[in-house]
Amino acid sequence: MTDQNKDLTAISILPKHIGIIMDGNGRWAKLRGKRRIFGHEAGVIKAKEVVEQCVKMKLEVLTLYAFSSENWSRPRKEINGLMKLFERTIGKYTSLLIDNDVCFKPVGNLDMLPEVLKRKLEQMEAITSENSGLRLNLAIAYGARQDIVGAVKTIIDKLEKGELSKEEINEDLVSDHLSFNDVSDLDLIIRTSGETRLSNFMLWESAYSEIYFTETLWPSFEEQEFMEILQNYSKSERRFGSIKDQIDLKKA
Ligand code: IPE
Ligand code: IPE
Ligand code: MG
Repeated sequence: MTDQNKDLTAISILPKHIGIIMDGNGRWAKLRGKRRIFGHEAGVIKAKEVVEQCVKMKLEVLTLYAFSSENWSRPRKEINGLMKLFERTIGKYTSLLIDNDVCFKPVGNLDMLPEVLKRKLEQMEAITSENSGLRLNLAIAYGARQDIVGAVKTIIDKLEKGELSKEEINEDLVSDHLSFNDVSDLDLIIRTSGETRLSNFMLWESAYSEIYFTETLWPSFEEQEFMEILQNYSKSERRFGSIKDQIDLKKA
């Protein structure tokens, strides 16, 4: 039995949907006396490793937060470097995703991205759309509040056109109008780098997520820690507002 398989046996309940806020690339690079982009490059390699681990575990959905709506406020030079890096990464890993039966979906305001990058992301989505293994969402130029505003606008449009009535507006309907409408809510969120905030990541879909904050900077995140987080998750009792006795009754 490999070490990873041994670790996996200790995980009795695997989350369906994991979201990762991959933070700390800049600090990781600075600690090594390098430019920030060096940290982002190391971060991409880490993202690839985590995707491979999730494929092995047969996870259903992984969402990686790669670039937020608010990250547009960074220096132009860093943004350009990141956009080029995203572009190169897609080219480099297309066959890896295909070989591993990964279904890829970019989520965010793709119109804000450079045309070439947008096209490559959409191509990758199209090429992998029939794959039935891991669903990999890449949150890029994404912000949860912006997504919610978009949903509100669409719902109002439908109301005005008479396609919807006010009585039909409920939680499911709002969910249906968000970008993550074809996957389940987040079960587990991991944020690296010691920051204990969500930074506009999937605010609606995280209503009942377990959240795990670690001091580790993203490029230093290792498989061992990932397994420990999953083992921890497996032990957590998610009550969704009810009490323990009710959960036990449901299990019986
Ligand atoms: C996360 O790392 C990557 C992006 C937000 C694009 P950072 O670039 O935020 O790294 P720190 O937080 O400055 O160390
Ligand atoms: C959150 O990291 C966004 C991503 C990891 C893509 P930030 O580094 O942008 O978050 P803040 O600014 O520290 O909240
Ligand atoms: Mg950061």
